[in-house]
Amino acid sequence: MQPIILDGDGLARNIRARLAAEILRMRRSGITPSLATVLVGNDPASEAYIARKHADCHELGIASREVRLPGAVSGKELAHHIDRLNADPSVHGFLVQLPLPPHLDDSRFIARVDPSKDIDGLHPENLGKLLGGEPSILPCTPAGVLALLQHHDVPLAGRNVVIIGRGALVGRPLAMLLSIKGVDATVTLAHSRSTDLDQITVRADVVISATGVKDLVREHMVRPGAAVVGVGIHRSESGEILSDIAPCVQRRAAWLTPPHGSVGALTRAMLLKNLLKLVAMRSA
Ligand code: GUN
Repeated sequence: MQPIILDGDGLARNIRARLAAEILRMRRSGITPSLATVLVGNDPASEAYIARKHADCHELGIASREVRLPGAVSGKELAHHIDRLNADPSVHGFLVQLPLPPHLDDSRFIARVDPSKDIDGLHPENLGKLLGGEPSILPCTPAGVLALLQHHDVPLAGRNVVIIGRGALVGRPLAMLLSIKGVDATVTLAHSRSTDLDQITVRADVVISATGVKDLVREHMVRPGAAVVGVGIHRSESGEILSDIAPCVQRRAAWLTPPHGSVGALTRAMLLKNLLKLVAMRSA
């Protein structure tokens, strides 16, 4: 049987349409949501992500501003730009695109963003609320993965979910999100030092891979009828985008993300959802 495709692009379109209606209402009441991005250096993948975020803003009627800094920028200078955005009342929310160049510590600069402008949901205060079981601004990719699974009615309560990858952007916050009251999954967080990974994943009802290792999840690692989500992507030398999930997994999975991955558009939709939430929280 062919798996049900977990179509993140389609769901992101639906979410954007709902957000567009909300933005229109805000604009009619005199508030134009406004977002800023900070990009350090010229990593091509980060440039592409930032360009898509600004295109989304343009499409939906969100004001957006781009701060671009050279790859060799000092920590002091980057901090100064973050402080300016924190203090600027015309900016409702912003993000610092990650990863930063090696001489700048990602977590130090994320912590410098005012949590009430943290559209990424990655500030320690916002992560702390998630850890405490009362999330406010959710990290975007984990929120997108949950929305994708819920939209396709993949059962989560009481089910075994294995997440592969313990990164700060996806794996660790996703483990927290899927195990909070109301979602109620039993979560295993596997990583590069986990032994017998295939023995862990083959027992799972849901396997989510966020590593960027091409074809990491193969057919024998998946229980027939499981849901399999590829979050990580890998760019081949020819520029093709490939997911963590090997194509043969489609013979076993009941739900499956497409071969090119499917979560990027959802991450961006969640970013805009966070922005609107911060606008509403500010005017409440
Ligand atoms: N780099 C890759 N994904 C993300 C993200 O969700 N937020 C930020 N700030 N940087 C990223």
